[in-house]
Amino acid sequence: MSKRDVVIVGAGVVGLSVALALSERFENSLNITLVAEFFPSDDKFNIKYCSPKAGAHFRPFPSTSESDRFACKLTRITQNYFKKLVKDDTFPIKFVKGVEYIEDASSAYLEVKEGYSEEIENFRVLPEESLPAGANFGVSYSTWVLNAPLYLKVLQTKLEERGITFLRKKLDSLKDINNLFDRRPIIVNCSGNGLQYNGGIDPTCFPIRGQTILIRPPENLDLDSTVTYQSKDGQWTFHIERPHGGGVIVGGTKQVGDTLASPRQEDTDALIQRASVLFPHLMKKDDKNEPYFDIIKVNVGFRPARKGGLNVSVEKADQNHVIHAYGAGGMGFELSYGIGHTVSNFMDDIISEEN
Ligand SMILES: Cc1cc2nc3c(=O)[nH]c(=O)nc-3n(C[C@H](O)[C@H](O)[C@H](O)COP(=O)(O)OP(=O)(O)OC[C@H]3O[C@@H](n4cnc5c(N)ncnc54)[C@H](O)[C@@H]3O)c2cc1C
Ligand SMILES: *[C@@H]1O[C@H](CO)[C@@H](O)[C@H](O)[C@H]1NC(C)=O
Ligand SMILES: *[C@@H]1O[C@H](CO)[C@@H](O)[C@H](O)[C@H]1NC(C)=O
Ligand SMILES: *[C@@H]1O[C@H](CO)[C@@H](O)[C@H](O)[C@H]1NC(C)=O
Repeated sequence: MSKRDVVIVGAGVVGLSVALALSERFENSLNITLVAEFFPSDDKFNIKYCSPKAGAHFRPFPSTSESDRFACKLTRITQNYFKKLVKDDTFPIKFVKGVEYIEDASSAYLEVKEGYSEEIENFRVLPEESLPAGANFGVSYSTWVLNAPLYLKVLQTKLEERGITFLRKKLDSLKDINNLFDRRPIIVNCSGNGLQYNGGIDPTCFPIRGQTILIRPPENLDLDSTVTYQSKDGQWTFHIERPHGGGVIVGGTKQVGDTLASPRQEDTDALIQRASVLFPHLMKKDDKNEPYFDIIKVNVGFRPARKGGLNVSVEKADQNHVIHAYGAGGMGFELSYGIGHTVSNFMDDIISEEN
């Protein structure tokens, strides 16, 4: 039996994870091609490519909507998969203690509502006397951190070994893909911001700008935790280790609709200011004994957000089945394998229907 052609558009964490899940489940029945303008193996990352710029780590949160509940389920699928992946030490993933401090926490947090603690190991509400000044709520739990650019590269290599074809091409519309194949392939659309079948992008998508600093932490510091501090004014300040020697990400901004591609000095200054109060242990001392962050790089990325949240769904356009998987916002890594799992269920339905 000949293999059914599948084209995945996008080589961000979503496209790569979909390719991984499909290749595991349909090893002998699909011929998978991944088409994208940008790849993990690029020497320099384009500003339109979000995934290499991520922290990245997993912070559970209480569900307050249907889309939160769906996202929650996908994060747990991903977490369980990462528990298996860490056993292979080529993957730069590490399970650590996650700590969160929140000023002005909402009742959903205070009451540890549905979606927050389920399936999260060692979840614990911290005693009030242990919280830093200003915070009225804190938790700790076991979670994962990963080295985003390196993790993506490892995925690409593994997928190439499995026989997946990587094709570099900028598409003006999804239907351009049909020109590359004799029979219409099944398209999986993981383009981040919603490339449309007939061109253009989904108008409900918008960027959330994130600026972070990558630092070289002091030597001999054993970072066995990741900390996030949510301030009243909506600012998040966090540190996330990048395993396998990738330094530490200190972040960050969440600027909705802001499209400045270059680092903004004001953002860096504000970040250094907040982080030096909260995370003095990450600072080195200069020859005058003044503490400073040893900055390797300032990163800017645009989280591909969407009104209504992530869209994973199937659509029939002309003769093509199109599976959407885009609009992951600030959670692409947390949702990644869960999205792959959902797409493989859709794929199973489509293939069964065709046969
Ligand atoms: C500062 C920061 C911190 C973050 N921290 C976290 C975190 O802790 N945890 C977490 O889960 N997430 C985090 N994120 C969010 C995460 O990075 C995104 O959700 C994720 O990268 C989205 O992945 P994607 O695959 O959808 O898109 P992208 O990574 O942007 O990939 C899009 C792909 O589609 C291709 N493409 C698009 N249009 C076309 C076209 N027309 N033709 C051909 N190819 C096309 C691109 O070339 C690229 O390969 C963070 C993001 C930022 C910026
Ligand atoms: C798989 O897809 C590629 C296009 O990426 C095509 O060149 C190749 O012929 C296909 N292989 C099979 C076995 O169908
Ligand atoms: C994918 O393609 C569909 C169908 O044309 C489109 O409506 C949707 O917005 C696209 N989004 C992404 C990211 O694939
Ligand atoms: C997903 O996107 C498609 C195409 O843009 C749209 O028809 C559908 O209603 C969206 N689904 C959800 C759940 O938003």
